[in-house]
Amino acid sequence: MNKLIIFKRSNYKYLKDELEAKGMELIDLARVHSFMKGETYLEDFDPSLQVIDISSLGNMDFKDNTIKVIFPEIVRNHFDSATFISDCNDEEFKDNMGYTFTIEEYRPNIDLAVIDEGSLSEIKEQSKKLLTNLSKVEIENLITSFNKSLIGHERFKEDLLDKVIEFKLFNAIKENKIFSIFIMGNSGVGKTEVAKLLHKQLGGNKHIAKINFGNYSSQDSLNSLIGSPRGYIGSESGELFDKIKNSNVGLILIDEFEKATPALFNYFLEVLESGYATSMLGEEIDLSGYIIIFTSNINDIDFEKTFSPELRSRFNYVSSFNPLTMADKKNYLYTRFSKYVEEYNEVFSKRMRKLDKEELDRKIQVEKYQNMRMLNKAIRELFLSHVKEKYPKSTDKIWR
Ligand SMILES: Nc1ncnc2c1ncn2[C@@H]1O[C@H](COP(=O)(O)OP(=O)(O)OP(=O)(O)O)[C@@H](O)[C@H]1O
Ligand SMILES: [Mg+2]
Repeated sequence: MNKLIIFKRSNYKYLKDELEAKGMELIDLARVHSFMKGETYLEDFDPSLQVIDISSLGNMDFKDNTIKVIFPEIVRNHFDSATFISDCNDEEFKDNMGYTFTIEEYRPNIDLAVIDEGSLSEIKEQSKKLLTNLSKVEIENLITSFNKSLIGHERFKEDLLDKVIEFKLFNAIKENKIFSIFIMGNSGVGKTEVAKLLHKQLGGNKHIAKINFGNYSSQDSLNSLIGSPRGYIGSESGELFDKIKNSNVGLILIDEFEKATPALFNYFLEVLESGYATSMLGEEIDLSGYIIIFTSNINDIDFEKTFSPELRSRFNYVSSFNPLTMADKKNYLYTRFSKYVEEYNEVFSKRMRKLDKEELDRKIQVEKYQNMRMLNKAIRELFLSHVKEKYPKSTDKIWR
């Protein structure tokens, strides 16, 4: 009977080392699946030399045909001899396979001294500013300022306070550790802005804990995120851990989440479920009280296709941002322009006048812009020409 070794993600390093010490090679099923579609997969699979990591199956609906074919074939062809490993703790997953495995739970035989205690205590000592440490009044004030700064998205703003209060209650009774928000919508409508504003309102320093999966190459993405076992290339603790340590608030921003791999979806499923982020080095960070904001450009239909029901159900709040309305864009134009003038006057002790709304409307037709980043570019150009007009002399202090 095939053997399935269940391991905890935090013990991955030890399991991998132990298997490799026995001369076994670890193969990730997620990679086999994405790199070798069709009939040629794992033709040379040798169960005496190779072990397959099927963790990615745990987060799949089995709607995916390639996986549906690959996995049973491997099991059939090597019945009795193959060993699989998985970080899945979902009983249903094991039952639904339709195969009976000999299940073995992996317990590492480790010398605990090898774990870097220094970095663990470093995390504990830093007291992060958490949403859950705020009083109701503080939360209301935070949301009020947030709502003033985010333009449009009225529905989201209406819901946010209720969702936060609901979270605070369930966090207090230890039913919900992390407040997770998933925001989808077109480029430049303010998804990332939500995270930046909340970070600021919480009293965040200049380091926002931001991961952008658009920048990850799929191959070693989990390693880049949560580190890799010692002795291997890039043995640092991983981007997620470095970013969490540098930030002074309990907020993580995950941009372009849809570009992550199944292994990463699985990882975040576990993070949201357990409330802990675990690195490959066995380091654990308690994320209770944290806000995690996931952003994505996908639409509602792709949202359902891309993420498993298990993962979707872990988000406290899923919101779809509509394009901003004409009124919102005008509001953005007026507020931005005024802000530039105010900051400018402050820095250079000038009294440059603002342009009035009619003038701004004449100079910039907001209907041409869908992406606020592009609109902002136009506003900056307008501001620059405005300054040049007022202070044309190159001897003026602002040009030096
Ligand atoms: N609703 C909004 N309220 C205030 N500012 C906004 C809003 N939408 C966009 N902006 C401004 O426009 C710029 C781009 O917004 P943001 O980075 O949030 O876009 P995004 O939705 O995350 O887009 P992408 O999908 O391209 O990452 C930011 O400078 C932000 O300040
Ligand atoms: Mg963004």
